[in-house]
Amino acid sequence: MVVAEVPELTSAAGYFFRAGAEGKRTCPTVLLLMASAISTDMSDPIVGSENKPRARHMRVAEITEMIHISSLIHDDVLDNADTRRGMDSLNFTVGKKLAVLAGDFLLFRAFSAAVALDNTEVVSLLATAVNNLVTGELMQLTITPAQRCSMDYYLQKTYYKTAALISNSCKAIAVLSGQTTEVQALAYQYGRHLGIAYQLIDDILDFTGTSASLGKASFTDINQGIVTAPVLFAMEEFPQLREIVEQGFDDPSNVDVVLKYLQKSQGIERTRLLAAEHAKLAAVAIDDLPASEDPVVLSSRQALKDLTQKFLRRTK
Ligand code: FPP
Ligand code: MG
Ligand code: MG
Repeated sequence: MVVAEVPELTSAAGYFFRAGAEGKRTCPTVLLLMASAISTDMSDPIVGSENKPRARHMRVAEITEMIHISSLIHDDVLDNADTRRGMDSLNFTVGKKLAVLAGDFLLFRAFSAAVALDNTEVVSLLATAVNNLVTGELMQLTITPAQRCSMDYYLQKTYYKTAALISNSCKAIAVLSGQTTEVQALAYQYGRHLGIAYQLIDDILDFTGTSASLGKASFTDINQGIVTAPVLFAMEEFPQLREIVEQGFDDPSNVDVVLKYLQKSQGIERTRLLAAEHAKLAAVAIDDLPASEDPVVLSSRQALKDLTQKFLRRTK
């Protein structure tokens, strides 16, 4: 799916799909489990003809991963990041220009594949997800000092940047399976809460993880002036932080002040609790699915619930 006319583009677009560079593959894992968790017909083997449900679900998983990778490639250009997944970022390796084009190309290929599924609602859900990704990124870029201090703004941005892709794709899986609007909504809610929990943990790891374990630099958020949940919670405890956060972080001594207050505060713990709440709500969405006695359906649901706990414990 990523082969292009120009060999340089093929290798740039395939950079994060090579063995050893493929990352956690969280999105496709969640989506295929979701497909099995809501399926009423598990007789379909994994390998099937193009039109079999499982093959169509796999296609959605692939498309979602391609959109995800394209957003990371563009994000690393925007952030001037040198590393990703413990290796050189694509922009570092091939330069910004080719990296931008590779991201565009992946996005275009993803949507070509989506169109081929011949379901306009699915295409529309994926388009919404990309629209949300761009909006989230822009919310971050254009943030005002007051917005920087707002938990509501932070959570909205987090939904757009991190949870919108998985939530809309989970719903797309339910739509493709011909599920009721209730089941579609539960699939969406699972993805939404899982995605938010994931990002909250990511925000904690930016303060507590080491570069080696994360595969990317730590303290990057605050050093780039990006304020996340731990600092917002710390600000509730120490209102004097607000002035510093409003000033921004062009002055590096402001970063030191924030880190000092964060250490004294419950910011990290409270972020962890909020992540746990979202993980719980994701699990509730799975519990609310229509009853089933199919062992594959049940074990897939259990795996989706286990994932919510696994996310809370992750260290990278
Ligand atoms: C990572 O954020 C960034 C994203 C999850 C989304 C980025 C979205 C765009 C660049 C918009 C364009 C979208 C597409 C589909 C081409 P981060 O910088 O906070 O996280 P990091 O630590 O992983 O770099
Ligand atoms: Mg980044
Ligand atoms: Mg970014």
